[in-house]
Amino acid sequence: MSVLNLFKLDNRVALVTGAAQGIGFQYARAMSEAGADVAIVDINKEKAEQSANELAQETGRKVIALGADVSNAEDTEKMVQDTLKKLGRLDICFANAGISEPDLPVKDIEDYPNELWDRLIKVNLRSHWLTNTTAAKVMKKQKKGSIINTASIYGLAADPIWGCIGYSAAKGGVVNLTRTLGVMLAPYNIRVNAIAPGFVDTGMSEAEQLDNPDPEIQKLQNETLFRTPLGRYAQPSEMQGIALYLASDASSYATGYTYAVDGGWLS
Ligand code: NAI
Repeated sequence: MSVLNLFKLDNRVALVTGAAQGIGFQYARAMSEAGADVAIVDINKEKAEQSANELAQETGRKVIALGADVSNAEDTEKMVQDTLKKLGRLDICFANAGISEPDLPVKDIEDYPNELWDRLIKVNLRSHWLTNTTAAKVMKKQKKGSIINTASIYGLAADPIWGCIGYSAAKGGVVNLTRTLGVMLAPYNIRVNAIAPGFVDTGMSEAEQLDNPDPEIQKLQNETLFRTPLGRYAQPSEMQGIALYLASDASSYATGYTYAVDGGWLS
C-alpha cells in the first residue's frame, strides 16, 4: 500500500475539543480534509457553530458543533454520546481545549493565587483526563482508536521567560497522562499521543500576542524569538501535519509519546 493512503481518514469520525478557533480548528480542518466527519466541541457554542459551517462548506464533509465545558464530567460524557448519535462512531479524539495564564509575566511565586492554580489544573489537565477516558470507553468496544492530547513545550521543560506556573504543571501532567494511558490502552489497540506546540500565533495569550505594545512584553517576546532557532512563532496551521500523522494509520506503531513542534525551542 502507498504510504499516502495511510494518511486517509475516509469513513472515520473525529472529535476535537476547543476547536472553535486556533490550533483546535486547524486540527479539525486537517481531519475533515483527510476525509473524516468531525465534531467541533467548544465552550463557545456560537463560535463552534460558525466554524463548523465554515469547515463543512470548505471540505464538503459532515461537520457538527457541540457546546461543552470539557472540565465538567457530564459535559464530556454528553459530547461523546452526541457525537455517536449524530456521526455514528468515534475513531479519533483530540483533547485540545485549554486556557493560558492570565497575567504574564509571573514575577513572584508568593503572589501566585491558589485559585488560579486550581483553575489551570482543572481546565488544562482534568479536561484531558475526562476527554481521554470518555473517548476510550467507546474505542475499547471498537478495539481501535487514536487519542491525541495537546501538551506544550512547558510540559517538557521549565519556562525561563514568562514564568508560567500552573500552566506548566498542568501540561507536565498531560505529558505523563499520555504515557500512562498509552500503556494502559495499548491492549485495546487504542493509541494515545500528545503534541507539544512551541509558540503559536493564536489569540490564546494576550501577553504573547505579537502586536502587544508594552515594552516589557516586547522584550520578553524578543527573548522568546531569540530562544527559538527558527526565529518566529508558528502559524496554527503548522500543527496540522503532526495532527494528521498521529490521527491516522501512518502512526500505527506510535503510542505514549509527546511530539514537540516548537521551531527547535527544546533542542
Ligand atoms: P485558543 O484560545 O485560540 O483556543 C482555545 C479554545 O478552547 C477556545 O475556542 C476556547 O473557547 C476553548 N475552551 C477553553 N476552555 C474550554 C473549556 N473548558 N471547554 C471547552 N472549550 C474550552 O488557544 P490555542 O492557542 O489554539 O490553544 C489550543 C491548545 O494548544 C491549548 O491546550 C493550549 O494550551 C495549547 N498550546 C498553545 C500554544 C500557543 O502558543 N498558542 C502553545 C502550546 C500549547
